[in-house]
Amino acid sequence: MNIIEVNASRRYDIFVEEGLLNRAGAYCAQVLRGKKVLLLTDETVGALYLNTVKQSLEASGFEVNPYTVAVGEDSKSTATYLQVVSYLAENHFTRSDAIVALGGGVVGDLGGFCAATYLRGIGFVQIPTTLLACVDSSVGGKTAVNLPEGKNLLGSFYQPWLVLCDPTALQTLPSEIYADGMAEVIKYGMIRDRTLFEALERGELTDTEIICRCVAIKRDIVEQDERDTGYRQLLNFGHTVGHAVEKCSDFSISHGSAVAIGMAVLTRALSAMGKTPAEECERLLALLAACGLPTTCDIAPQALYEVALSDKKRANDTLALITVPVIGEGGIETIAVTELARYIEMGAVK
Ligand SMILES: NC(=O)c1ccc[n+]([C@@H]2O[C@H](COP(=O)([O-])OP(=O)(O)OC[C@H]3O[C@@H](n4cnc5c(N)ncnc54)[C@H](O)[C@@H]3O)[C@@H](O)[C@H]2O)c1
Repeated sequence: MNIIEVNASRRYDIFVEEGLLNRAGAYCAQVLRGKKVLLLTDETVGALYLNTVKQSLEASGFEVNPYTVAVGEDSKSTATYLQVVSYLAENHFTRSDAIVALGGGVVGDLGGFCAATYLRGIGFVQIPTTLLACVDSSVGGKTAVNLPEGKNLLGSFYQPWLVLCDPTALQTLPSEIYADGMAEVIKYGMIRDRTLFEALERGELTDTEIICRCVAIKRDIVEQDERDTGYRQLLNFGHTVGHAVEKCSDFSISHGSAVAIGMAVLTRALSAMGKTPAEECERLLALLAACGLPTTCDIAPQALYEVALSDKKRANDTLALITVPVIGEGGIETIAVTELARYIEMGAVK
């Protein structure tokens, strides 16, 4: 059993072990006070794993109310949010009751925000079932839904009571969704852990090992900057350009692929500027490709930086750009927003 302890505004444990879905009830019983649980999932994950988790919770004495939302980002909406919290109210959930979110980042972010706001905060357990959710969204307490004006605009920091990762659940993931998660895994190696990056190159890690190493890195970063005021921005490596790629493609390029392209663009730029050796850049491009991720796209650099700048200009004239001159040693550079254009121009493949 792997246990990763998180000391944030709420202390909690992340358990990583094969077969954990079958034992979810016993773990929840150790941290939840009430007996009532909303088991939130989406249609795909529900069809695969809802019964297993429900039976385990019931065997530990919980009264389980399953709640299934549609698959996909559209469920991270204010409409779905209101439906879920209304359901909690109609069914007389009290402050000692809880939401258990079983699914990917969509269900986790939605469930977390419902738990954070219903009755000003009820119990919350994450059971992530995508690689991205295991290594990223279930750790660190960011919860949110989207507004028509943009992603994650309505949210809060709300740490879970418990996170249960069962790597066997990843076996049913479609390969492109697994690859999306690998973009974040490679990001962790790039920003903080050269030995992780090299082990990924050799393809020698199990999913359990990958999850444990990535979660430990994210935990260390979150513990130092829980509310994302500085150091936590390291986790945004590849994301400034990545978000622009997602938007310019009208979200036809997935988040993971967009982050992969974002990391590749920045690192090629750094290499062209002589700030990182060409071999370091080549290793990143090769690992991304080996994991089924793209390193280029055919969006014009001009379009990319216009979208990226329109995002960033609102704050002020500078932005924090995460760069990795040496694999495993990411840093935060403050650059003029207009300078981003040069990075994108130099890093894009003509
Ligand atoms: N809170 C954070 O810190 C944070 C960090 C990164 C991303 N996010 C958010 O996470 C969301 C993306 O998460 P995601 O990539 O997990 O997407 P997702 O939740 O939409 O899951 C992707 C797809 O995989 C399916 N799926 C999930 N688990 C499965 C399994 N075990 N077997 C088969 N299919 C399965 C889902 O039904 C869905 O179709 C975005 O909304 C993003 O904003 C949040």
